[in-house]
Amino acid sequence: MIFDCRKCGFSFAGTWLQTKMRMAQKAGPEEGRIRMNRIHGTDGGKQPAGALAGQVALVTGGNRGIGKAIAARLAALGAAVAICGRDLNTLKSTANELKAAGSRVHWQRADVANSADVASLVTQSESSLGGISILVNNAGMGLFGPVHEKTEQEWDTLINTNVKSLFLVSRAVIPGMIQRQRGDIINISSLAGKNTFAGGGIYCASKWAVQGLSGCMAEDLRAYNIRVSTVCPGSVATEFSGRGPKDPSKVLTAQDVAHAVAMIATQGPQSFLSEVHLRPVAKP
Ligand SMILES: NC(=O)c1ccc[n+]([C@@H]2O[C@H](COP(=O)([O-])OP(=O)(O)OC[C@H]3O[C@@H](n4cnc5c(N)ncnc54)[C@H](OP(=O)(O)O)[C@@H]3O)[C@@H](O)[C@H]2O)c1
Repeated sequence: MIFDCRKCGFSFAGTWLQTKMRMAQKAGPEEGRIRMNRIHGTDGGKQPAGALAGQVALVTGGNRGIGKAIAARLAALGAAVAICGRDLNTLKSTANELKAAGSRVHWQRADVANSADVASLVTQSESSLGGISILVNNAGMGLFGPVHEKTEQEWDTLINTNVKSLFLVSRAVIPGMIQRQRGDIINISSLAGKNTFAGGGIYCASKWAVQGLSGCMAEDLRAYNIRVSTVCPGSVATEFSGRGPKDPSKVLTAQDVAHAVAMIATQGPQSFLSEVHLRPVAKP
């Protein structure tokens, strides 16, 4: 059985989903919406080529899924791009695609929940490409089902991957941004970070944590001309863990998320777009 969450735009599969999903927040479905694909198409984008020339972006989980689309979009706008992940094959193939398109690329195998890997990732990315001016904390995983059926190990793995990683990578990148008095930290959160639903326990906890951490970091860093923002997508057509098959007409594409990231990275210097909610136009 496939269960669709109208609030978050997520689709889930599994027996536990036969229980009706209840949303804790009662806000109207239109609240806070930015309908990106009504503004213009998200494949070509409107940001001018070269808008990010001279900038260096680090995209965690840039080897596949949403991260790959973000890396490609930032590269197309002229940024040099560093990508990481744990799977060597997808890292190499994505790096080759980016290079073939004319971009400067650094790729590195790194577990973003491991502080030694993260320190090495940031040091080597900056020595290869220059100081990081755009950090996209995208790497993440999903794990769904009732909390009482989950193990301590599952909790630790998911929270470390989705939350600790953001702390570790940001902490490694921020001193350079402060020194240069410039930076964008864009955290890929989720509409699950704004809502609650049955079976979402650990994943929602991780994305609510991303929201809280991002908001506080934004206040810590705005005096240094560093913007910290979140992009909160609903269901996106990727191989995201624990997901059932999706109706492609009712989900976002990875390019839609990349478009929102590019919009944040190319906004005017006086502007601070702090949170983007991204939903498929069609309701599940
Ligand atoms: N798909 C959706 O519907 C959706 C909706 C809202 C938000 N999001 C968020 O969007 C982000 C990307 O999701 P996705 O849909 O692109 O999922 P995905 O296709 O499963 O990709 C996940 C990415 O994260 C990387 N990753 C996972 N754990 C890692 C670790 N410990 N160290 C380094 N890299 C790691 C993966 O690379 P390796 O496997 O090679 O490590 C991969 O590049 C996540 O934060 C997710 O929560 C997704």
